Amino acid sequence: MLIKILYIVLTYLCGSIPFAYIVAKANGTVDIRAVGSGNSGATNVFREIGKCAGVITLIADILKGFIPVYFAAFIDNYSSYSVAVAVAAMAGHMFTIFLKFKGGKGVATGLGVFFALMPLPSLIALAIFGLVFVFSRYVSLGSICAVISLPLTSYFLGYGTEPVIFTFVTTLLIIYRHKTNIKRLIERSENKLRIFKKK
Ligand code: G3P
Repeated sequence: MLIKILYIVLTYLCGSIPFAYIVAKANGTVDIRAVGSGNSGATNVFREIGKCAGVITLIADILKGFIPVYFAAFIDNYSSYSVAVAVAAMAGHMFTIFLKFKGGKGVATGLGVFFALMPLPSLIALAIFGLVFVFSRYVSLGSICAVISLPLTSYFLGYGTEPVIFTFVTTLLIIYRHKTNIKRLIERSENKLRIFKKK
């Protein structure tokens, strides 16, 4: 029991590692939260610092969610405990102890966490993200559409009550974190992400 609690605490601390902040700092930006969209996430790093820094942040944020949840799910056979570990990873990223509990919007880490917990709904969400992003160039819109699909697909694909509630609550939280993006989307002033544009 003690080991399980310790694992949850370590997962929270691992999720708390603010890779966007660290990568931006390493690239000379004082504080990623003071530039661009103000989000300490891979998209903002990609836009404001550069492609390489953005991709590194994206991979690191995905892995810090995926690795602890994958092992918990593998060892505990996708029990309620693995959902508790998933909550800890998301909480770490979105409410990081290292930045006064003000973390990212949860999309990249959510991708890692959901892939570990429910691969098929995650693949569907990723496909939805890809489609929306390719046609709009808005990461935020793609992210919102993708996360909205998760509670629905996890429910209809027969995942248990706890994973479905987890996806539902996480989806609401991620959408809430995108409130400024939603405002900009409505006002048609949202930042687009042009992958092949020279920085
Ligand atoms: O991962 C967050 C993304 O959906 C939006 O990021 O920087 O455009 O607010 P940003």
